[in-house]
Amino acid sequence: MKPEKINRVKGTKDILPPAAALWREVEEVAREVFELYNFHEIRFPVFEKTEVFSKSIGDTSDIVEKEMYTFTDRGGESLTLRPEGTASVVRAFVENSLFNRPGVKKFYYMGPMFRAERPQAGRFRQFHQIGAEVFGTDDPSADAELILALLDFFEALNITGLELKLNSLGCPVCRPAYRDELASFLKSRIGSLCESCQRRVDKNPFRALDCKSKGCKQAVSDAPSIDRFLCGECKDSFQSVQNLLKDAGVSVTLDPRLVRGLDYYSRTAFEVTSSRLGAQDAVAGGGRYNSLVEQFGGPPTPAIGFALGMERLLTLVDAPENEPAPDAFLVAVGGEAEKEIFQLARRLRRDGFMVERGFGGGNLNNRMKKADKSGARFAVIIGDDEIANASATIKDLIKGTQKQVGLDEIPKTLEDDLLAPIEEQSEE
Ligand code: HAM
Repeated sequence: MKPEKINRVKGTKDILPPAAALWREVEEVAREVFELYNFHEIRFPVFEKTEVFSKSIGDTSDIVEKEMYTFTDRGGESLTLRPEGTASVVRAFVENSLFNRPGVKKFYYMGPMFRAERPQAGRFRQFHQIGAEVFGTDDPSADAELILALLDFFEALNITGLELKLNSLGCPVCRPAYRDELASFLKSRIGSLCESCQRRVDKNPFRALDCKSKGCKQAVSDAPSIDRFLCGECKDSFQSVQNLLKDAGVSVTLDPRLVRGLDYYSRTAFEVTSSRLGAQDAVAGGGRYNSLVEQFGGPPTPAIGFALGMERLLTLVDAPENEPAPDAFLVAVGGEAEKEIFQLARRLRRDGFMVERGFGGGNLNNRMKKADKSGARFAVIIGDDEIANASATIKDLIKGTQKQVGLDEIPKTLEDDLLAPIEEQSEE
């Protein structure tokens, strides 16, 4: 009986060639841009003790309440697949005493994250983020620089039409008053709120501002906004961030209802959205989290960061039209020639050429068809005649011309011909 096919898990994706090459290119651009800002790569485990996330993201957030992949390991410990990177970076920052390193500490990371959300366009259960975090300063110019790094990255990828939404979430001094006001406002419309927002109206009324349910959206449309509640320091910091961005020519949409889905934020919060993304329109989000390092047992260390979603980003990037194809496809006719191309492929790859070869026999015609299909620029053909005089026939598969060269001359000939513009190459 034919075994049953096993499919991937719902909400996950295979990233196949040529898409995977585009992913890599985008990741390389991220490295280039963020390293210009002196960010350094950090890598951390894909799973952590559950408390890493529950105590930072907030136990009334959607992520912790219903979206974490949590399991008990064989030793009886509760572990969770990372739903985001910030909590892990903070855990690593404290555990490895990175606060002892001199100056401001800047890290970037990229990799898969896991959230048990309802899959839909732009929303997956395994998705990928590129994130960046800055530790050790609450200077508003660090906020503006971080946002500029993100926008530089989008610009390097030629992505346009993005909107930067900015808000300040206040601090432990000014937020409680806003929270109380918001909670009483929400209680006055409690019947319109969804069940979760009703339940968390006292503990975390901010969630209602971020809730996607129709009733909540409507109920909060005239909710009080935080701007009137900001204390002097938060106001000044927020104003400076705005001024710096303005000076840098960045247009900003102030959104006093922007609260973000994670509870660790204070002061600056932002999202970058694109109308080309549909319902899941946020391509990136971030903000300040000045208490988190301390909450993890480290010294008081203000911090700010962002993460962008790769799947969403990639729908905004134009894919290159051509996928990379081999420089040369090696064609052997006869047993001796087979041995020769095995060695030749090895030599050419060591010289840096991208090489493919035919497998499994067949006549010259069949093998040349394979060469054509591979998209290679040149076929290097070795048969009995060529073996007899230590040579090969190099056929230009675009122009249809061919020439015979000594085996030793193959690398140089390929190199010269690959470099020469197609129209200038001499016919032979
Ligand atoms: P976040 O807003 O939860 O923030 O996620 C950042 C980005 O990840 C989103 O804007 C979105 O593009 C992408 N994303 C989130 N969930 C999904 C999903 N289910 N499927 C596809 N893409 C998704 C954070 O994760 C914070 N750690 C950002 C941060 C860093 N704040 C400070 N530092």
